[in-house]
Amino acid sequence: MTEPLRLGIAGLGTVGAGVVKIIRQKAALLTERTGRPITISAVAARNRDKDRGVSLSDYAWEDDAVALAKRDDVDVFVELIGGSDGPAKAATEAALTAGKDVVTANKAMLAHHGQALAQLAEDNGCVLRFEAAVAGGIPVIKALTEGLAGNDITQVMGVMNGTCNYILTRMENAGLSYDQAFDEADKLGYLEADPELDVGGIDAGHKLALLAAIAYGTQVAFDAVELEGIGKVSIADIRQAADMGYKIKLLGVCRMTGRGLEQRMAPCLVPATSPLGQLDGGTNMVMIEGDQVGQIVMRGAGAGEGPTASAVMGDVMDIARGTRLSTFGQPASSLKLVTAAQVATPAPYYLRMGLIDKPGALAKVATALGEAGISINRMRQYDQTNDAAPVLIVTHKTTRAALDIALVAMNATGVVAGDPVALRIESV
Ligand SMILES: NC(=O)c1ccc[n+]([C@@H]2O[C@H](COP(=O)([O-])OP(=O)(O)OC[C@H]3O[C@@H](n4cnc5c(N)ncnc54)[C@H](OP(=O)(O)O)[C@@H]3O)[C@@H](O)[C@H]2O)c1
Repeated sequence: MTEPLRLGIAGLGTVGAGVVKIIRQKAALLTERTGRPITISAVAARNRDKDRGVSLSDYAWEDDAVALAKRDDVDVFVELIGGSDGPAKAATEAALTAGKDVVTANKAMLAHHGQALAQLAEDNGCVLRFEAAVAGGIPVIKALTEGLAGNDITQVMGVMNGTCNYILTRMENAGLSYDQAFDEADKLGYLEADPELDVGGIDAGHKLALLAAIAYGTQVAFDAVELEGIGKVSIADIRQAADMGYKIKLLGVCRMTGRGLEQRMAPCLVPATSPLGQLDGGTNMVMIEGDQVGQIVMRGAGAGEGPTASAVMGDVMDIARGTRLSTFGQPASSLKLVTAAQVATPAPYYLRMGLIDKPGALAKVATALGEAGISINRMRQYDQTNDAAPVLIVTHKTTRAALDIALVAMNATGVVAGDPVALRIESV
């Protein structure tokens, strides 16, 4: 019989336990599909006594993930610990240095160290795969790296943090405030230990940076992602955007422009009737546009035991079949340094502000916009609540820089109560 592919799995939490279950429950199917058995030699986690909902008695135990990564009976090191540095990175480096292939679900580690790790893999003749790191069960890395490799990618866009989408959906559908929806997500265990990773857009920004590297052949540049979380989105914005035919999503966009690479993860408005607008709850969606293929839309579970373990197994099975791909779809040494676009592609903007009841108040706001070169597409004024009347404005396409000038001028008019909210409208 063909030699088995022997795994060492570090991390036996949600994803790690899911991978062990698939390997135990689907052994015959995996062998049939790859032509060789996939076995587990050893596992590692912090607590040896914890019940993982699956038997581990057939496998050797290591307390130290680095020791696991170096074992002679491990062909592929599967890193499912998490964290950008620490044991996950140390063990990944140890495995690659020892000439072992690595499969990981760790977007934080790759967003921060992707280039160095891809180079290390290449230098040692190894593969480093990370399908599960982006959009959970959606095989978006495979799509970009393989199926769409013959395209110039014009744009990648996506909702890639299910927790944020859940919070925004609950605010909209149940009328919850941001704090109430956040608490609900927390009680359901949807939030990371550090919630800022989710609601601050950092986790989704990590994923976007990885997709951009593959799409544009650039070195991963997470620091160049323009990041804004969902913490400032209010129920008023959600309701009033809906009134104008939009939904608010934490949307990632990357595109190569003549001015450099644009990478942005921020709340923005999308048409309510678009596929992204209709994406409710914890689901993820990624839209890729290629010059030859046109638009591809992929939708599915972005997290959870089964979907994430499914993505890990896709990578493991590729290795079992002998598929050897560069980490980011081309040799690490050929990935270009990113020049970040300083000015984003112009877009229409949604503005919400409270107007103080003074003669000529609306005209002053329109003048501030006009003087910054911004024209108004639509406007709506609501009845006065407290001291101010809510006003919504949808602008024609403009740059964020021009808008910032207009916002400063508006604040100086003395007719705007508080800070206006400005959200980009993406055409999808
Ligand atoms: N959960 C998801 O839906 C999902 C989706 C996509 C990607 N991911 C990524 O998948 C990875 C794992 O996530 P998870 O949700 O499975 O995390 P998790 O449930 O917190 O599990 C982490 C595992 O790592 C183990 N661990 C911690 N420190 C260790 C060390 N020093 N040495 C060895 N093992 C150690 C823990 O051991 P103990 O159990 O003994 O404490 C635990 O088993 C992360 O990179 C995450 O970003 C997760």
